[in-house]
Amino acid sequence: MTTTADVRLGNESTDNEPLLVVEDLRTHFMVPAGAVKAVDGVSLTLERGKTLGVVGESGSGKTILSRSIMGLNVVANAVTTGSVRYAGMELVGQTPKQMKHLWGVEMAMVFQDPMTSLNPVVKVGRQLTEHVRQHLGMNKSAAKDVAVELLRSVRIPEPEARFDNYPHQMSGGMRQRVCIAIALACGPKMLFADEPTTALDVTVQHQILNLLAAQQRDRFMTMIMVTHDLGVVAGRTDDIAVMYAGKIVEKAPTGALFADMKHPYTQALLFSIPKTSNPKHTRLTAIAGRPPDLISPPAGCKFAPRCPYAQDRCREEEPTLTVPDATGHQYACHFPIGTSESEAAFQRNLDAGVPQTLAAAGRVQATDDLDALERIVQTKVGAAPAGASQEGGH
Ligand SMILES: Nc1ncnc2c1ncn2[C@@H]1O[C@H](COP(=O)(O)OP(=O)(O)O)[C@@H](O)[C@H]1O
Ligand code: SF4
Ligand SMILES: [Mg+2]
Repeated sequence: MTTTADVRLGNESTDNEPLLVVEDLRTHFMVPAGAVKAVDGVSLTLERGKTLGVVGESGSGKTILSRSIMGLNVVANAVTTGSVRYAGMELVGQTPKQMKHLWGVEMAMVFQDPMTSLNPVVKVGRQLTEHVRQHLGMNKSAAKDVAVELLRSVRIPEPEARFDNYPHQMSGGMRQRVCIAIALACGPKMLFADEPTTALDVTVQHQILNLLAAQQRDRFMTMIMVTHDLGVVAGRTDDIAVMYAGKIVEKAPTGALFADMKHPYTQALLFSIPKTSNPKHTRLTAIAGRPPDLISPPAGCKFAPRCPYAQDRCREEEPTLTVPDATGHQYACHFPIGTSESEAAFQRNLDAGVPQTLAAAGRVQATDDLDALERIVQTKVGAAPAGASQEGGH
């Protein structure tokens, strides 16, 4: 059995190794209809002090991946297998009681909605001091000093006065700053930020992301930044892992990913980045279709029903991640972007009137219902000569 002392020992003895090594991690939820494969064979490595962006649409498994790494999936129907080595210590198979020693002190999480992580009937100062006292064993007055300093460090103006606020007396941005302060309170080495700005408006989003980046740098924390928005992680992370249906489908240093995007799903995410200059944040092009059923996903590539490049091979044979190139870039695709094969595949689909390909080419409006999209294509484009350039109906 591993104790806190073992955890600390592991930490000291492996300072030159990556802080986090995840191998073939799977979390399946057993439900009457079968196993929901929420995380399905994820491997990743994270060096100390680095930030990894985990990107994918809603339902792709980002939160469950983070929770699986932290050992927070304690629901009875969850089965987690594979390996999570944190500072040289295996975490998969640890009990919540054992993991408790790591939460807050070694790893902490900032959640999407500050209201769900804050207690609405307890003053924010007390929520901070309780956390500090519980984990660091400080007395009341020392804990208050620490709490006020934490509020100051997350740039809450007049922290002494704000200490006595209830959460509802603060704006959404201020509440998220408090959550960040709580997460930072015990000096975690690793911070998970799970869509920390989704509930906030665009200006506040930037402030919070900048705050997280500054804290990460100052404290030399290792960070996993989870988001559905590729725009959020561009320029803010060292590496990016793109998730689809519980798997990583592309992984690269951030610069390499944007310079030489290989996976059609990553490209679709890029095209669907909300236009922040537009007050309504309209999407440039929505991705056609919806993510697959995780109990019985399609055979072959799980993105095939929505992929503008999909060919027969994709529907038959599931692509696996390539061996990393010199930059560490990996992707799982039979027709990677930028190759003559993918250009030919796209053109073939365009000529054949494949709905999602026509949508990607801007000839019809993408919709999340592939059957409806097909009907639109049949009525508005279907009769047109193959490959003819025309405006799609909306
Ligand atoms: N307790 C659960 N039981 C069954 N399925 C679950 C449970 N929790 C999450 N899921 C499913 O796991 C998938 C991944 O969820 P999640 O990681 O929250 O996605 P994301 O964070 O990328 O939006 C979703 O399809 C979700 O419905
Ligand atoms: S393997 Fe085929 S279907 Fe899957 S992303 Fe690549 S081109 Fe698209
Ligand atoms: Mg989530």
